[in-house]
Amino acid sequence: MKPIKILLLGSGGREHALAWKISQSPLCEKLYIAPGNAGTKECGENLNVQVNDFVAIQSVCLREHINLVVVGPEEPLVNGIYDYFQNDAALKHVALIGPSQEAAQLEGSKAYAKAFMQRHGIPTAAYREFDQTNYAEGVTYLQNHPLPIVLKADGLAAGKGVIICQNHVEAMAEFELMIQQSKFGSAGHKVVVEEFLTGIELSVFALTDGESYVLLPEAKDYKRIGEGDKGLNTGGMGAVSPVPFADSVFMEKVRTRIIEPTINGIHAEKLAYKGFVFFGLINVNNEPLVIEYNCRMGDPETEVVIPRLKSDLVELFLAVSQHRLAGKTLEFEQRAASTVVAVSGGYPGSYEKGFEIDGLDILNEDDTIVFHAGTTEEDGKILTNGGRVLAVTSFGDSVHKAAQRSIKIMEFIDFQGIYYRKDIGYEFQ
Ligand SMILES: Nc1ncnc2c1ncn2[C@@H]1O[C@H](COP(=O)(O)OP(=O)(O)OP(=O)(O)O)[C@@H](O)[C@H]1O
Ligand SMILES: [Mg+2]
Repeated sequence: MKPIKILLLGSGGREHALAWKISQSPLCEKLYIAPGNAGTKECGENLNVQVNDFVAIQSVCLREHINLVVVGPEEPLVNGIYDYFQNDAALKHVALIGPSQEAAQLEGSKAYAKAFMQRHGIPTAAYREFDQTNYAEGVTYLQNHPLPIVLKADGLAAGKGVIICQNHVEAMAEFELMIQQSKFGSAGHKVVVEEFLTGIELSVFALTDGESYVLLPEAKDYKRIGEGDKGLNTGGMGAVSPVPFADSVFMEKVRTRIIEPTINGIHAEKLAYKGFVFFGLINVNNEPLVIEYNCRMGDPETEVVIPRLKSDLVELFLAVSQHRLAGKTLEFEQRAASTVVAVSGGYPGSYEKGFEIDGLDILNEDDTIVFHAGTTEEDGKILTNGGRVLAVTSFGDSVHKAAQRSIKIMEFIDFQGIYYRKDIGYEFQ
């Protein structure tokens, strides 16, 4: 096969991990990242183009003769970048990794995802959906709902649209704020009210060509800012892979009850889906249920999943786009991987940017990789440029040992206000 030119969209730790992997492939002639960060610059050429600027992306593809576009974040997918390429005569031949706008509703609309799961008998929490038209019915429904009550804004709300209410007064207030006061803009004009499930969460990732799929290693992320899973929600403070409780019996249930019915459902409904499917799962008494779908990889899960993949990712992307994924098997690193995320002081509240990051030069060790997230390069210095600044991924004999290694490495890295959790993987000692 002839090496190809690839454009990767996004600028987080997920994209640095993808860029790191893509750039190692003999099938990658040239990699561009738009807009990228100070880390992706080491894997290819960063371009000052934003992920939702389809016109600018189109001109990059034509100018640089791009063969394959890999979409990191969900927003361009939900905004229809796949369809934009399909409907443009000059871009039609460019392969794009990601679902169509319709299929991206599996992430972009909670109600769409729930209805899809119902149609295909996929286990998930019981629910009802409400909007302006059945608002009063919704209030009555909430009054009689057992506690806690899960309220979900239907649309994308930057990871903030899910509220778990401990009492009925709070639930009704939030319900009113979303539907009547546009708390999450139009994303919350429809609300999914869900049964609360108790269990441990994990994430499973498939790559599909719309008919066949391959499974990537599973992962568990740590969302809270504080140790012991306390405090405010963040984009993710760390992740581990594999997930020790996801044994072969459990994973077989995941495959037969969730992954296969989902991929078969996508195929049966003729959804155009050539990309990653992220299954947000919960283990309730050893039974897996779906909490959510996402139509892209997770961040920071990518920073542990991709380093564990030994197979050529570009070859896989080509198989996806050419509809020849059937029969493919993947090779994995058997060692565990953990990643620890360093964030700016104040995050997830307000924080300052522009602090110089020290200690990045000592980090070329075999068992550790530093992935940049919110970083930028200015006059040869690497500066903080976001809430989540970087993720240190390490390998080890167990996820706990891998995390300990990342924490040790983290001691050499410094910027003003640096904070990271020292307990990633704590429950798997
Ligand atoms: N039915 C439920 N029962 C218990 N907890 C739930 C339920 N639904 C959601 N949650 C909790 O809320 C979190 C966010 O929910 P969900 O994944 O649906 O939202 P999201 O905003 O799409 O998340 P992400 O930003 O990770 O894509 C879940 O990870 C889980 O911890
Ligand atoms: Mg989601």
